Amino acid sequence: MSKPLRVLVTGAAGQIAYSLLYSIAKGDVFGPDRPISLVLLDIEAMMGVLKGVVMELIDCALPLLTEIIPTSDISMAFKDIDVGVLVGAMPRREGMERKDLLKANVKIFKQQGQALDQFAKKNVKVIVVGNPANTNAFICKKYAPSIPPQNFTCLTRLDQNRAQSQIAARVGVSCQDVKNVIIWGNHSSTQFPDVTHATLKGKPVLEVVKDDNWIKNEFISTVQTRGAAVIAARKLSSAMSAAKAICDHLKDWFHGTPDGQWVSMGITSDGSYGIEKGLIYSMPVKIGAGQEYTIVQGLSIDDFARSKMDATMKELIEERDAALQTCEA
Ligand code: NAD
Ligand code: LMR
Repeated sequence: MSKPLRVLVTGAAGQIAYSLLYSIAKGDVFGPDRPISLVLLDIEAMMGVLKGVVMELIDCALPLLTEIIPTSDISMAFKDIDVGVLVGAMPRREGMERKDLLKANVKIFKQQGQALDQFAKKNVKVIVVGNPANTNAFICKKYAPSIPPQNFTCLTRLDQNRAQSQIAARVGVSCQDVKNVIIWGNHSSTQFPDVTHATLKGKPVLEVVKDDNWIKNEFISTVQTRGAAVIAARKLSSAMSAAKAICDHLKDWFHGTPDGQWVSMGITSDGSYGIEKGLIYSMPVKIGAGQEYTIVQGLSIDDFARSKMDATMKELIEERDAALQTCEA
C-alpha cells in the first residue's frame, strides 16, 4: 500500500460534502490502492454537525480511510495537504446570480489561498467549487504565489455533464455515447456549452441532432441556467450532481482522460484561444496518466463561438476586478 494521500474537503458539514465524502473515502476517486487521510474543515459553529459526519464515515467501515481529522483551524486543515477540495462557501438562493455571492465568499478564498501558500505541499492540486467558482479560484491562486498556477482549477465538469446528458436525452442514447462537449468560460449563465467538436457514437453531434436552432437556443440556455432550475425546484442548490462532478474532475486529473477524449476544467488561461492570460477560464484539456493537463489546441472557432467565448471572458474580467477590489479593501 502507498502512503496515504492527504485530502482536505472544506465545507465538510455542508450538503455537497455529504454526497462527496463517501466516494473519496471509498477509493472511487484516487483509486482502490490509495489510502486516504481525510481532513474536514468547517466553521466552528458547524463542529457539532461535523462530528455526526465523522461518526457516519467511521460507521461506513472503509478500509482505505486511515485517518479523519475534523477541524475549524485553518492552519491545521491545510498542513501538508496533497489535494484541496474547496467547497465551503455560501450557496446562492432563488433569484440570485452566482456572482452575487462574490462579496460574501471571496474573502474565504483569499484566506485559504494564504493558508495554501503557507501550509500545503507545493505540488498540492486544488479544485474550487464554492461560487463564484472561477473567480474564487483566481483569488486563491493569487494569494498562493509559491504554488504553480496550473495547480488551481475550478469545477465546470457539472456543466459538461449537464450538456452531455441534454444531448443524449435529445437523441435517445446513453450519455456515455456523447463525447468531447466543451464548456468555455465562467461557471455562470454566460458559460458557452459548445458541441461543435462533440461526437455521438463517433459522428459529429451537429450532424446527428440536425437542429441548429435548438442547439443555439434551448440547449445552450438549459445548460446555462440548470443550476438556477435545480434551486427553484429543490430550494437548495445542486449537491448530488455537484459531488459526482467533483469526483469526475479529480479522477481524470489524477488518472488521465480516455484516449481521444477531453474534459472541461476551469484552469489558468495561458492566452490560448485569445483568452486573457491568468483568468480562470473553463477550457478543454487532455490528461495523460500521471501527467499534467494540457489545453486542447487547434480547435476551429466560428463567429458564433467567438462572440460567446468573449462574452463569458468579459464577465470573468469584471468579476476578477470586483474581487480584487473586495480583497484589497
Ligand atoms: P452548504 O451551505 O450546504 O455548505 C457549505 C458549508 O461550508 C457549510 O457547512 C458552511 O458552514 C461551510 N463554510 C462556510 N464558510 C466556511 C469557511 N470559511 N471554511 C470552511 N467551511 C465554511 O452549501 P453547499 O450546497 O455544500 O454548496 C457549497 C458551495 O458550492 C456554494 O457556494 C455553492 O454555490 C457551490 N456550488 C458550486 C458548484 C459548481 O459546479 N461549481 C455546484 C454546486 C454548488
Ligand atoms: C450549480 O451549477 O448547480 C451550482 O453552481 C449551484 C448554483 O448556484 O447554481
